Amino acid sequence: MAKDKLFTPGTIGPLKIRNRTIRSAAFEGMCPGGVPSQSLIDYHRSVAAGGIGMTTVAYVSVADGGRTFSHQAWMNPGIVGDFKKLTDAVHREGAAASIQFGHAGNMGDSKVSGQRAIAPSGRFTLFGLTLPRRMSESDIEDLARAHGRAVALAREAGFDAVEIHAGHGYLISQFLSPHTNRRTDRFGGSLENRARFLRMVMAEVRKAAGNRTAVLVKTNLEDGFRGGMTSEEGISVARMLEEEGADALVLSGGFVSKTPFYMMRGKTPHRELISYQQDPLIKIGMIGFSRIMIKDYPYHEAYFLEDALKVREAVKLPLVYVGGLVSRKKIDEVIGRGFDFVAIARALVADPAFVNAIKIDPSHVSKCLRCGPCNSCVATMYMGEMRCTFSG
Ligand SMILES: Cc1cc2nc3c(=O)[nH]c(=O)nc-3n(C[C@H](O)[C@H](O)[C@H](O)COP(=O)(O)O)c2cc1C
Repeated sequence: MAKDKLFTPGTIGPLKIRNRTIRSAAFEGMCPGGVPSQSLIDYHRSVAAGGIGMTTVAYVSVADGGRTFSHQAWMNPGIVGDFKKLTDAVHREGAAASIQFGHAGNMGDSKVSGQRAIAPSGRFTLFGLTLPRRMSESDIEDLARAHGRAVALAREAGFDAVEIHAGHGYLISQFLSPHTNRRTDRFGGSLENRARFLRMVMAEVRKAAGNRTAVLVKTNLEDGFRGGMTSEEGISVARMLEEEGADALVLSGGFVSKTPFYMMRGKTPHRELISYQQDPLIKIGMIGFSRIMIKDYPYHEAYFLEDALKVREAVKLPLVYVGGLVSRKKIDEVIGRGFDFVAIARALVADPAFVNAIKIDPSHVSKCLRCGPCNSCVATMYMGEMRCTFSG
C-alpha cells in the first residue's frame, strides 16, 4: 500500500536510501566567503537526525564565476575537507548526502567573483541589472567539463549523489529556454540544439560519477511564461535526460529572473525582499516595481502534481516529486500515483524534524501551511543563514 511505501527503502542508481524522502535543494546561504560553515553542517545533520532519507546541499556553483551570492560556495579542492565533515555528520545520522551543482549564467554577480556574467546570449537581464557576455564554444566546452570536475570533487567529499541543476532559469535552463537562448549556431534554435549543452554536461557528469555516485537532475516541467520552455518541451527534455543516463529526475518549474515564485507559490514577500536587498540601485528598482514585476501564484498542496504526472507517463526512470508538500496524506497520495521519492523544502526549513513528525503522527501538517506559505525564508536567503521567520 502507498501509505506504507513512504518509509520503505528506495534506490536511485547505485544508491539505496532508507526511505522515500529527500530534502530538496534550498539555498542555505551558509558558506560565507564560499566556505561551508559549521551552521551548514549543523543544519544538514539536523535534517538527517529528523528522519530524512537524503539531504541535498543547495546551489553550489561549478565555477567561481557562476556564483550569485558571496555566501555561496563554488566546488574547488580547498573546500572538500569542509564538505567531508558535512557528509560524515549526515551519514552518522543514517541519511544519504547529495549536493546540487549549477551555474548562475546571466544571474552571476561580478562583485562576487570579479568576473563578468556569461550566458547563451548577451541579453540584458533585470535580475541583478546584468548585461552578460555571450559564451563562445570554448566557454561552453570548459563549463561542461567544470560540471565533471565538480562531481569528481563531490565524490572525494563523500557525497552519495549529485544533483545537476537544469531548471529554474540558471545556466543550463538558459540554454534550454528560447527566452534566453537566441543563438543561431548549433547551440540555439531547435530544442535538440538548445539541449546540446545539457547533453555535453551529462556526458562529463556520467564519466565522473562512474557507477558509485547517483546522478539526479532537477529539470523544469515548464518555464511558466509565454516565450519560455513549454510543457511539451519539458517532457522531451525528461526523455533526453533518460537517454543520457540520469539516475532520477526532480521535476520543478519556473525561471528565477522572470517567474521567481512559480516554483514555490503562496505569498510574495515583497517587503522582506526589499529590506534584505543590499544593492542600492536594485533596492530602489524593487521599491518602484516589485509588485508589478513579480507575479503571485496561488498555492495549493502538490501544485505540480498534474504536470508531473505527464512526465511520469513519458519516462521509466525514478522520479522525484517536489512542490508544495506539507502533509503525510498528500505525500502518500503522490507516492501512490507513481513517484518514487518526494522532495521537501519549506516544511523542512520550518522544522528539520518534519519527516519524523509525520512518521509518528500521520495527521501532522507543517506549520509552513499556516503561514500561507509566506515565503519569508526566500528573502532571508539574501542575507545569509536562510531560516523560517514565521512565529505562529
Ligand atoms: C529559501 C528557498 C531557497 C531555495 N533555493 C533553491 C536552490 O538553491 N535550488 C533549487 O533547485 N531550488 C531551490 N528552492 C526551491 C525548492 O527546492 C523547491 O523546489 C520549492 O521550494 C518547492 O518545494 P516546497 O514546496 O517543498 O518548498 C528554494 C526554495 C526556498 C524556499
